[in-house]
Amino acid sequence: MQVILAQSFGMCFGVRDALTLVENLPVPDQVTIHGELVHNPQVLLQLKSRGYYSSSEQDRRELPVTPQVLITAHGISDLERQRLEAAGKTLIDTTCPLVRRAHTAASKLADDGRHVIVIGKPGHVEVQGIIEDLDSYTVVEQAADVVTWPQARLGVICQTTTPPRIAAEIVFAIEHQNRHADVRFVNTICQPTLDRQLAVELLCLEVDVVIVVGGANSNNTLQLVELARACGCPAWQVNGPDELRDEWLQGSSIVGLTAGTSTLDATLQAVHQRLLNWPTPQLAAAYLKSQIEPDPIQGTADVCLDAQV
Ligand code: F3S
Repeated sequence: MQVILAQSFGMCFGVRDALTLVENLPVPDQVTIHGELVHNPQVLLQLKSRGYYSSSEQDRRELPVTPQVLITAHGISDLERQRLEAAGKTLIDTTCPLVRRAHTAASKLADDGRHVIVIGKPGHVEVQGIIEDLDSYTVVEQAADVVTWPQARLGVICQTTTPPRIAAEIVFAIEHQNRHADVRFVNTICQPTLDRQLAVELLCLEVDVVIVVGGANSNNTLQLVELARACGCPAWQVNGPDELRDEWLQGSSIVGLTAGTSTLDATLQAVHQRLLNWPTPQLAAAYLKSQIEPDPIQGTADVCLDAQV
């Protein structure tokens, strides 16, 4: 099986910095990670085994029991920051600077007297962090959600992992349906997302199928899958090598490989290795033939698919 890696893939600097900081904290059992540090089940298990407390994204409203609280790369609102500090918690902040930039852009648009439209996934932790500090906002996930707002001034920003194509469609729809309004768009999609999305589009020109390694609840991982499919390529998300399925790869000789921004390098390498050793249709056919037509001299050929992996 030939495997082509996307030109840009995998863990971004924001997640890498957060993980490095967490790996070097001296007393994990004094720290609660406020939500999922990364949307990656392997990493979450490792953190748990090191003694970290972790609040799920659903119960982040409950006050952590530990004296220190670690804010993830997805960030939190100023309101939430104040709530934790008022409760005497020491905050360890790993908010990605590019998420911070989206918060700043939203606040500036609000200060400028605009109704803020956030392009992103409703309920996603990053989006929650942004809107909790706003009085007047709407979250829009797709162009079909766009309406005519009564406000004369609108400001638009994006969740950092929004696919540029979707952002462009939504901004066009907002401007089209709100001709009465002064619309200002600040593009807050992060560069690593742009790089990985562009790389998937290019990858689709060369491969039969795309495998995206990353958590099933990782927004940017799922966006890569959707983008590859929108480019006409079958695409599948896996957490690791054991989730690869033969039916996805049947009839394919060139597989494209990429990974979401919270995927560990080791996980990606494991998937890569498994794909490189995946039995091609030709090898599988040779194996079946050898079982049906034993070698007249040596008897049944001692061929095992596992031996080729
Ligand atoms: Fe930051 Fe973008 Fe990664 S916002 S955490 S660099 S996906």
